[in-house]
Amino acid sequence: MSPSSSTRTIPATSQTPRHVAIIMDGNGRWATQRHLPRTAGHIRGVHAVRRVVEACGRRGVEYLTLFAFSSENWRRPAQEVSLLMRLFVRTLEREVDRLVAQGVRLRVVGDLGAFDDKLRGLIKSAEERTAGQSALTLTIAANYGGRWDVLQAMRALLTAHPELAAQPEQIDENALDPWLAMSYAPEPDLFIRTGGEQRISNFLIWQLAYTELYFTDRYWPDFRADDVDQAFAWYRGRERRFGRTSAQLASPT
Ligand code: IPE
Ligand code: IPE
Ligand code: MG
Repeated sequence: MSPSSSTRTIPATSQTPRHVAIIMDGNGRWATQRHLPRTAGHIRGVHAVRRVVEACGRRGVEYLTLFAFSSENWRRPAQEVSLLMRLFVRTLEREVDRLVAQGVRLRVVGDLGAFDDKLRGLIKSAEERTAGQSALTLTIAANYGGRWDVLQAMRALLTAHPELAAQPEQIDENALDPWLAMSYAPEPDLFIRTGGEQRISNFLIWQLAYTELYFTDRYWPDFRADDVDQAFAWYRGRERRFGRTSAQLASPT
């Protein structure tokens, strides 16, 4: 059974979120505000990734998941898409040693079939090189979409258990969970979206069912360790009820 379903079992919660999931938004506006090309914002965004990985590691976060490229981002101008791909390649080439030194395990989730062979090879080797690390699991969601995830999980489940097609009532959350792209992680405790928009944009739609949602106007390239602290302080003030009443939380019997 999956350890992660907040709708099946009430997870233990702690002061520091175990799993933080972030929509890194606002790169383009950050650059436009400075009369720079949007791509300059993406380049500066990589610095923010470094800062936030380090800050989360120091604060004892176990899983950090960053939305880097959505299944809808292919709709952007070809030039911007190609810069984002090159940036992804360059970052993978340059950052793996640092990740290993920090005890970070890297995983990449999404429909990777859309990427070229070089990028896929780099992803695979970066995952392999960091596989022994255990301080923090950093997941990059690339060509990821929450709806894609639910659909691919359902297809994978039915491929593994074709008999279930004739008994759909046998398909429950526990059956589907192991096939989701992030089945190795508990559901996110804290979701952060920078850049001022208050929407999910097809991120982890299944896994965010009981996640605390935090929105900040700060553009991603400006996001720093003290913004992480602010979000965590806000998180500590939440009462995570998972369907129960406040009174039940105060005196669990
Ligand atoms: C997020 O910043 C990065 C990606 C989606 C790749 P944006 O590029 O969406 O920046 P804004 O929202 O246009 O400012
Ligand atoms: C969401 O940001 C995707 C990533 C940050 C990778 P977008 O900027 O693409 O989202 P929308 O289009 O404004 O909802
Ligand atoms: Mg955006």
